[in-house]
Amino acid sequence: MALDFPDISKNLFDLGGYCSVVTGAGQGIGLSLATGLAHAGSDLVLVDRNAETLKNAAGEVGEIGRRVSTVHADVTAEDTPQRIVEDAMALGGRIDVLVNNAGIMGYSDMLDVTDEQWDRMYGINLRAPMRIMRAVLQEMSRAGRGSVINIGSSWSSRGSIFNQDGAGWTTARPRQRFRASAGPLPRTWPPMEFG
Ligand SMILES: NC(=O)c1ccc[n+]([C@@H]2O[C@H](COP(=O)([O-])OP(=O)(O)OC[C@H]3O[C@@H](n4cnc5c(N)ncnc54)[C@H](O)[C@@H]3O)[C@@H](O)[C@H]2O)c1
Repeated sequence: MALDFPDISKNLFDLGGYCSVVTGAGQGIGLSLATGLAHAGSDLVLVDRNAETLKNAAGEVGEIGRRVSTVHADVTAEDTPQRIVEDAMALGGRIDVLVNNAGIMGYSDMLDVTDEQWDRMYGINLRAPMRIMRAVLQEMSRAGRGSVINIGSSWSSRGSIFNQDGAGWTTARPRQRFRASAGPLPRTWPPMEFG
């Protein structure tokens, strides 16, 4: 069922009635984004693999006066996307914003990166956000609205063994693949590039 657009004519930054999802919300950028969304009026579904920081983050959002739900999970777990959608629909009956923020940095260059480093980086920084987007977009498509924000890194544009610390490749290349898909909800999902 298509959802009404909220009336933002009086305040462009009023997210009252919104339900937003933030991954990696326990600390750092994710926590700041979550509390920022809460201050703007949005209810929150917070996702993190660290139970303690997740609980503290939920406390902060609750103190701001918003409804909050937590998904204690690794974003790479097979059932995490479905758990996120179920929590969000139970909390707000809608998903207006998804922030794919959980991510890791890694330091190695193309000459010595191990398969294990690559697979871990790929799993958390690329595969997991794609799977979460895919699940959340089902609801956004049904509602006819929604925004996805994928947090990347400036390393995405300069992955090279010639970087000053020779570090860019493993963190940069996976994120770069999402650039084409970041933006307004497309009617037709663009093909993703790998390799
Ligand atoms: N801080 C920077 O300077 C910087 C620069 C470029 C990009 N980024 C990106 O911004 C995002 C946030 O960065 P930050 O500095 O706040 O990071 P951070 O390490 O402070 O916080 C990351 C949060 O994500 C959670 N997390 C990590 N992996 C997870 C997983 N597999 N499942 C569930 N939760 C997981 C952690 O528990 C933590 O709460 C990351 O994607 C990072 O790559 C950060």
